[in-house]
Amino acid sequence: MAIDLKDYIASIPDFPTKGILFRDVTPILENGPAFQEAVRQLTDYAKSVNADMIAGPESRGFIFGCPVAISLGVGFAVVRKPGKLPRETISCKYDLEYGSNELFMNKDSIKPGQRVVIIDDLLATGGTAKATAQMVEQMGGVVAGCAFVIELDGLPGRETLKDYDVFRIMNLSDH
Ligand code: PRP
Ligand code: MG
Repeated sequence: MAIDLKDYIASIPDFPTKGILFRDVTPILENGPAFQEAVRQLTDYAKSVNADMIAGPESRGFIFGCPVAISLGVGFAVVRKPGKLPRETISCKYDLEYGSNELFMNKDSIKPGQRVVIIDDLLATGGTAKATAQMVEQMGGVVAGCAFVIELDGLPGRETLKDYDVFRIMNLSDH
């Protein structure tokens, strides 16, 4: 293989807080062939599970999810943080290490029976993807799978998403 995408991940110690090793995907975005290769792998996966819709959580899920939707010729449903969507929404709360977050989708963004692939840059605890999956199901969609650029080892992402098919381009340690 010509491109090893692991070469395009920057690792930043103690960001955003002490003890966290931040895995940064922006070097992939800043290199045309690497970005194309990441999108190709995510697209091949989404195609293999017969996706007819992509859902992507703000903000890094937009970056990788949109080009996949375009290359498959399917729609893209936005998953947003509070206060961003002006129409009728559904929402799902999920726990963080300290406190909780809530994500929102347009209430009619997924049609019953649609096969949805959730795309994001990173699988850590799985809270973001699980909340997205629950909203997709609430709208009558089928979660055909979840696809990530990076899975962090040592965190319970797989366990959180045990009911779903999970694809990731690479796995990296969380420290
Ligand atoms: C990060 C990352 C994933 C999520 C993974 O997003 O981009 O969306 O966290 O963590 P989890 O598996 O524990 O849910 P973040 O909420 O930091 O926002 P951003 O994409 O806007 O940077
Ligand atoms: Mg994110």
